[in-house]
Amino acid sequence: MKKILVTGALGQIGSELVMHMRSIYGNDNVIATDIRRIDGNVAVESGPFEILDVKDAKRMAEIAKQYNADTIIHLAALLSAVAEAKPVLAWDINMGGLFNALEVARELNCAFFTPSSIGAFGPSTPSVNTPQDTIQRPQTMYGVTKVSGELLCDYYFKKFGVDTRGVRFPGLISYETLPGGGTTDYAVDIYYEALKNHKYSSFIKQGTYMDMMYMPDALNAIVTLMEADPSKLVHRNAFNITAMSFEPSQIAAEIKKHIKDFEISYNVDPVRQAIADSWPDSIDCTAARQEWGFSSKYDLASMTTDMLNKLSGKLNIK
Ligand code: SER
Repeated sequence: MKKILVTGALGQIGSELVMHMRSIYGNDNVIATDIRRIDGNVAVESGPFEILDVKDAKRMAEIAKQYNADTIIHLAALLSAVAEAKPVLAWDINMGGLFNALEVARELNCAFFTPSSIGAFGPSTPSVNTPQDTIQRPQTMYGVTKVSGELLCDYYFKKFGVDTRGVRFPGLISYETLPGGGTTDYAVDIYYEALKNHKYSSFIKQGTYMDMMYMPDALNAIVTLMEADPSKLVHRNAFNITAMSFEPSQIAAEIKKHIKDFEISYNVDPVRQAIADSWPDSIDCTAARQEWGFSSKYDLASMTTDMLNKLSGKLNIK
């Protein structure tokens, strides 16, 4: 990876990945793109930035050529809850954008990463210790685009030799940029509300287990996978990875160790609860560990300490 084009660069993952990659590969070698510009944003100000709607194939190719990109990190997509509310738009952006990005990668011979998700699984998937290769019949538009995306990326590798690689991310927890309308977002919101109001009303019901990961581990996973020796990769799109699995009362109990009077209550959103119920409780990431050395550093306790620490600084709450 020498010249890396990132789409969706101002989203939850992109805003941190751009900075992480600029620190490794050099500021000028990571080209951030997003559908909108946010002046003052560190990813916009610290290196090249271009406005790009991923539905615009021509513009995407122009930018990739202009900067001589050899790698595309395609992050622009709608998350699960928004995709359920706007399924047609979700298909357009998630599949149309991916197809355009793969075509650019094919034309310019770029390495390619795009995230899949635990959302690529569905109610008929074994939900505990979900294997790498298993039933994938999701019933959400988000899940449909993620499974289709995995297949399309595998196709581009087999048919055209494009070096496509991906992971199935669990819920990602971070303090820099909020996630944009997912189901696992409760596990981010809870930290903000804990610091601001010492209480949180969860839209996910007690007892609902989902896989999660702290952002530093997710960034590390992307770079490690993209730098991995291709001869070791049996799978490509996409590897199960996870760092922890918990349900709302467990994250609440962990927060309570820091904020003694913190209380969780429940006001369940049926749409997001149904999505969560259709996702695994915990996935097995043996293939990622074996094929490219995936590992994670943060568990629920260490993530909670770091999140509360960083977020209290950001929100200026003592
Ligand atoms: N975090 C995502 C969501 O909840 C899952 O990939 O939509």
